[in-house]
Amino acid sequence: MTDYNRRAVELLGGKPMVDLGVTEAGIQKAVERLKIVGGNRLRGSVSPSGAKNAVLKLMTASLSAHNLCIIRNVPRIRDVETMIGVLRGLGAEVNWEDETVLAIKAPNDLGFCAPDELVREMRASVQVMGPLLSRNGRVKLFQPGGCVIGQRPIDLHLKGFQALGAEVVEDHGYVYVQAKKLRGAEIHLDFPSVGATENIMAAAIVAEGTTVIRNAAKEPEIIEEQNFYNRLGARIRGAGTDTIRIEGVPRLYDREIDYTVIPDRIETGTFMIATAITGGDVTVADIIPEHVEALISKLREVGNYIEIGEDWLRIVAPNRVKAADVTVLTHPGFPTDLQPQITALLTIAQGTSVITENVFGSRFRYVDELVRMGAMIRVESRSAIVKGVENLSGAMVFAPDLRAGAALVIVGLRAEGITVIEGLQYLDRGYERFEQKLAGLGADIVRDRI
Ligand code: EPZ
Repeated sequence: MTDYNRRAVELLGGKPMVDLGVTEAGIQKAVERLKIVGGNRLRGSVSPSGAKNAVLKLMTASLSAHNLCIIRNVPRIRDVETMIGVLRGLGAEVNWEDETVLAIKAPNDLGFCAPDELVREMRASVQVMGPLLSRNGRVKLFQPGGCVIGQRPIDLHLKGFQALGAEVVEDHGYVYVQAKKLRGAEIHLDFPSVGATENIMAAAIVAEGTTVIRNAAKEPEIIEEQNFYNRLGARIRGAGTDTIRIEGVPRLYDREIDYTVIPDRIETGTFMIATAITGGDVTVADIIPEHVEALISKLREVGNYIEIGEDWLRIVAPNRVKAADVTVLTHPGFPTDLQPQITALLTIAQGTSVITENVFGSRFRYVDELVRMGAMIRVESRSAIVKGVENLSGAMVFAPDLRAGAALVIVGLRAEGITVIEGLQYLDRGYERFEQKLAGLGADIVRDRI
């Protein structure tokens, strides 16, 4: 009898169900899930893996290269494996040289259509468009749909390509883009879209003349791509600001490059928030503290002590944080990819917090799962109003997307009793050895299969 049925007998008496080999979650199927016993304070030191949202773009940028690209500090996560499939589908050679080292070599006769099923699986596949356009002048792509966090159009990407002289045709769910010659242009983005900034930058590197992207995204991952392309012989300046200048060059270098990716700022922030909710004391090492400045400020505001070093920080948390409002904005504002996690923390804060999501259209789908654990949250339009409670109770919950999964783990670390989290196919997209790293900090967390 499962723990939940035992509880049912305690509360209601009698025989809860005839054991037909089914779980409360439905007909028995072999699924992986995380099982967490809440209450342990996290202690010790942990380091994040390489930045998922940078690595994926350096992998697509390698399609523009005329020689071998070695990328180091690559996390072993599902999205990287999917992107390996996308690049191989286009004809590139991609191999793991070591535990965290990828070697990528794009042939001259690259394909121009990424595998549909992989594009459907991972939106980041869209980022092959810029490199393929600059390399071969054409790309056909299955139009990526929205996902659980909201509409995910690519209109800004396509408008940017058109401004550079490409012809765009959308037909029967596919996008066809081709350009005999790409010409530099002045492009003003309606929204500082990360993906659009990256794709336009990639398309402009060998365009004739100079391209200026205004209202560009300023995320640290954009700087990574600028550095990577410049190592390949491109001439890009201004990444990290809202104006990026790309001086088109006739051709990139023919030499090999060897590039080490920055640490993952969202994974860093996830460990910081996990420490905060458990009243722990953790050092997060091998990081770039400036990349999590907005979170440091917010965690200090709610009562955490944070000491900052050259490439590390130490967070010492109170037993219970104070409430605070959070406004999600594009970088350097509070990052949308830490919105579910900070909301999870504030469910047990002293007082009421309002979290406003200004980047994605519906990134509060996970709230229902937190409410099942006893959280008091009301979603109104773009905001979640969170009335802090003393504590939450463990439950069987489902992670609808990657960062929501992290939020459920964070709450499970604090909640009374057992929390079982299904939907690991999402969590494994972006976190490498997540439960092992948390267990290393003293969390009572295991992955099991039912
Ligand atoms: C990147 O997605 C990240 N993904 C996301 O991380 C991150 O949340 C997002 O940037 C914002 O920081 C990767 O890097 C692989 P956007 P991206 O284009 O590029 C709208 C995670 O959990 N928009 O900046 O898709 C769009 O609908 C993931 O690691 C248009 O309207 O984000 C959204 O509302 C989730 N038209 C907003 O802009 C367009 O053409 C931000 O999107 C493009 C975007």
